[in-house]
Amino acid sequence: MTAGAPILAARGLAKRFGGVQALDEVSFELLGRQIAGLIGPNGAGKTTLFNLVTGLDRPDAGATFFHGQDITHTPAHAISRLGLARTFQNVRLPGQLTVLDNVRVAFHARAGYGFLQAALHLGRYRRRERQISAAATALLEMFDLHGLGDQLAASLPYGMRRNLEIARALATGPSLLLLDEPAAGLNGRETADLAALIRRIRDEFALTVLLIEHDMKIVMNLCERVLVLHYGKLIASGPPGQIKRDPQVIEAYLGPFREPA
Ligand SMILES: Nc1ncnc2c1ncn2[C@@H]1O[C@H](COP(=O)(O)OP(=O)(O)O)[C@@H](O)[C@H]1O
Ligand SMILES: [Mg+2]
Repeated sequence: MTAGAPILAARGLAKRFGGVQALDEVSFELLGRQIAGLIGPNGAGKTTLFNLVTGLDRPDAGATFFHGQDITHTPAHAISRLGLARTFQNVRLPGQLTVLDNVRVAFHARAGYGFLQAALHLGRYRRRERQISAAATALLEMFDLHGLGDQLAASLPYGMRRNLEIARALATGPSLLLLDEPAAGLNGRETADLAALIRRIRDEFALTVLLIEHDMKIVMNLCERVLVLHYGKLIASGPPGQIKRDPQVIEAYLGPFREPA
């Protein structure tokens, strides 16, 4: 059991698109160093929830708190600087940057080290650049991208671009990482590697991770807590063992013919 104040708290989040209530009174909390899963059928509101929490979109009602701070109306770039990072359902990367520069740029977003300071403190700037390059190289190694630092990001195969997107998110120094269907389009082996990697980065970076995932084997093995969205409503949340026996969840999402545990 993890004790302490929640890292993220959502209170009554609501969002409507035309005739669709994408999110309806959604409230939950995430505790530190937890790997949590967000599941639910297509169109349930999972990505919308990520968009609201990261400041890409605004709720019609409700509020979001990050480390106790109200971020409901905080701009996305400021939320990122507070330590909330995400990846997208369809990989988003500056493809014309090299693999190494992709990660270096993300480190700079955290370093907050602008051009003026750089000009005034050239020695310190160079030292910092060396540190960033070393840290970026270490991250690339962790994600099996070492040796590819000079390649353009756009030239990488799909699975590697997904990894690079996560490495970039990590380089911004988050305490909370949101992953939108990180295993989509990966083969079985890549998916298993990704699950191990997610566990490892949680441990090494003391992160909280919330991931959207359809593969129930991964969700049940990897996640310590599962949130279930259905037509915009959070219909269940709890440990995976409890979720897979929840009659409402079985009816809405898992179906009656699920594999025995
Ligand atoms: N920008 C948007 N404009 C209009 N409708 C949207 C928009 N974003 C999401 N929706 C609708 O909101 C619902 C939830 O979408 P989404 O959050 O993407 O679901 P999920 O990620 O669970 O598949 C869907 O019915 C979707 O069509
Ligand atoms: Mg989605």
